[in-house]
Amino acid sequence: MMQVLHQLPKSEDPNLIVGNESADDAAVYRLSDDLAVVSTLDFFPPMVDDPYDFGVITAANALSDIYAMGATPCFATAMVCFPKSLSLDVLATIMRGSIDKLAEAGIVIAGGHSIEDKEVKFGLSVTGTVRPDKVIKNSSAKAGDLLVLTKPIGAGVITSAIKSGKLKEEPLLVFEAMRELNRAASEAMVEVGVNACTDITGFGLLGHASEMAEGAALTVRIYSRDVRFFEEAGRLVKSKKNRPRAIESNRVFLKGRVVFSADVDETTRMLLFDPQTSGGLLISVGRERAEGLLSLMAAKGVDAFTVGEVTGRGEYAVEVY
Ligand code: CO
Ligand code: CO
Ligand code: CO
Repeated sequence: MMQVLHQLPKSEDPNLIVGNESADDAAVYRLSDDLAVVSTLDFFPPMVDDPYDFGVITAANALSDIYAMGATPCFATAMVCFPKSLSLDVLATIMRGSIDKLAEAGIVIAGGHSIEDKEVKFGLSVTGTVRPDKVIKNSSAKAGDLLVLTKPIGAGVITSAIKSGKLKEEPLLVFEAMRELNRAASEAMVEVGVNACTDITGFGLLGHASEMAEGAALTVRIYSRDVRFFEEAGRLVKSKKNRPRAIESNRVFLKGRVVFSADVDETTRMLLFDPQTSGGLLISVGRERAEGLLSLMAAKGVDAFTVGEVTGRGEYAVEVY
């Protein structure tokens, strides 16, 4: 699907600061010298059973693309596919989850559109603003930068294990992380000043790291020992039934772009391809500002860790150690 989206015609409009070329998190359009509008859309079938949680996580995930650009959200619109056979209470609960989470970000749902469909799908388009000279793209990493990651990896495996009935108890930390806004992390990176950022979603850590590397024509090194994984993820990914299909499709898509050092075990490799919903921010920050970023994140209650660095372009976009 990504390949098709990349074939969209290139815009000649000089005010479209971020368009489709760099697979960035949101489109950015300059309205004046000091104001740009930021726009993003995400929608999914339910990734969790509880309708309220589904609404909350969808909102946190949609807002994340705004925060990844260093922007401030203004309002959201909703997109709903809903079957006739299901009680409208379920939809009301999904909406309530989203409304509550968006309220935490200081915004409301200003409208939307719904259609009848066989399967529930729900999503949000979020519109935000940013100063044109303050946009944080995913393609502007610099050689020598350190890579900082917030939130652990492995949510895809865990939500899919819950769906397949393999995991009876819901692991609290995963849900907490998926519900958590990337707002504080975004505010910290804007305050410190960083070179590039993207949020970790469907392409997994390696997919999004590879977009960051390709966008800047550099190579990204990930030190897998420094990446945090949700506790249960390593155990669960060993069983094929728990594996989201995207682990394999991400691996295939990234063939020729990612290289592993021989000592990175198969469990770790699979988790690095694991698709995340409402994952954390991957931030490329100048080495001299990294310490400041980590301590400001800590002060704001955000867990953040250095997981790699950016180097001159090698044979592969991403090297994993
Ligand atoms: Co994104
Ligand atoms: Co998105
Ligand atoms: Co960005």
